Amino acid sequence: MSLRLRIELALLALLISGCDRHAGAYRQPPAGEGAPFAAAVALTPGGGELRTEPNPRARPYYDNAAAVVTGMKLYNAMNCVGCHFNGGGGIGPPLMDDKWIYGGRLDQIYDTIYFGRANGMPAWAGKLTDEQIWQIAAYVRSMSLPETLAANGDGTPSQHPAPVPEDADSHDGWRLTPSDGGKAR
Ligand code: HEC
Repeated sequence: MSLRLRIELALLALLISGCDRHAGAYRQPPAGEGAPFAAAVALTPGGGELRTEPNPRARPYYDNAAAVVTGMKLYNAMNCVGCHFNGGGGIGPPLMDDKWIYGGRLDQIYDTIYFGRANGMPAWAGKLTDEQIWQIAAYVRSMSLPETLAANGDGTPSQHPAPVPEDADSHDGWRLTPSDGGKAR
């Protein structure tokens, strides 16, 4: 190898590693690290991707009355109440309105609970089973359903969760980010 080629290769390697570092500076930190900064600059969560394609694993938790009742019990047992109250919001955002920072589809709510979110939402992966996380997600999804709100009367906590109809999350019901006007596709 000629000296010139060697120098060129060395420069190239330097450039590539420099690029890597550069890209790294823009990478989202994991949940908990530098969280306030991450939340201020992007809606994309620090703890996980924002899922756009529906996750077929959500399917058994639609139209499932047992899932939302078990989810309600877990919600209380895990002290989600401590931060979100009974859906009205507190330290964490309200869950019974139709505004979602990280998406309001059942599978997006699952991701939020599983991975946690950058600005103070803990990750529950490993603390709860997968099934339990789906059940809580179904309960959270149920909170803002007209059926649930009607069953609970005006502004009262959500103690009578309606099962989540599958068509609640199709097309017009899909909410990915507040900026898309509530319609993802
Ligand atoms: C220590 C306080 C705390 C606890 C406990 C907590 N959360 Fe959260 N949660 C938050 C905060 C803060 C956010 C907002 C995170 C953000 O904006 O990045 C949040 C966000 C969320 C969101 C996203 C809302 C949206 O608009 O997209 C959901 C869903 C949620 N939490 C559900 C739960 C559930 C279910 C539990 C119990 C298993 C729980 N949280 C426990 C603080 C908490």
